[in-house]
Amino acid sequence: MSQHQTQALKLALGNFATGVTVVTTCHRGMDIGMTCNSFSSVSLDPALVLWSLRKESSNRESYLESGGYTVNVLSAEQQLLALDFAGGAPENRFANADAERLDSGRLRLSRCASWFDCALHQVVSAGDHDILIGRVLDFGSCRVDVLGYGQSEFKVLEPIQRTSEQAVS
Ligand SMILES: Cc1cc2nc3c(=O)[nH]c(=O)nc-3n(C[C@H](O)[C@H](O)[C@H](O)COP(=O)(O)O)c2cc1C
Repeated sequence: MSQHQTQALKLALGNFATGVTVVTTCHRGMDIGMTCNSFSSVSLDPALVLWSLRKESSNRESYLESGGYTVNVLSAEQQLLALDFAGGAPENRFANADAERLDSGRLRLSRCASWFDCALHQVVSAGDHDILIGRVLDFGSCRVDVLGYGQSEFKVLEPIQRTSEQAVS
């Protein structure tokens, strides 16, 4: 694919709006976290989720070798965390984040909309990414506005206001 086509593909894919997560793990005593919008649910029984990790990520080894990961679904208030976890040295990324350590040893970010603590179940190599399928060990959620991402921008996902004609009876 030419550079022009790759750019066009990115733009086309960007029209598919998603939520935003920070995926954490703990490898050899070091906390790791990365902003990720490729998170998706896979199966309810057994409970499986997935996300895809760029093979060139400096933290690839940590996610593949630590045995599991925790997905933190960000609330609308947590846009700055999304930026903190999108780059910079691993040890600096948690500087502005309140977090609680789970029994698994991984960190769960405080005040996130949902969290899923997962054992690494399967890794599928797919082009320039690895797909990390996780089995959900524990999870939680609360009712808050969630952070969205689409067309290269963060968004607040809100219900559409219906007119009286469109009202659902
Ligand atoms: C909104 C958003 C979503 C992202 N989603 C992913 C993702 O799903 N998978 C991924 O590998 N990187 C994703 N990234 C990029 C990583 O966050 C970024 O490459 C990483 O934190 C940089 O550190 P690294 O050296 O560990 O790759 C995303 C970045 C942003 C801002």
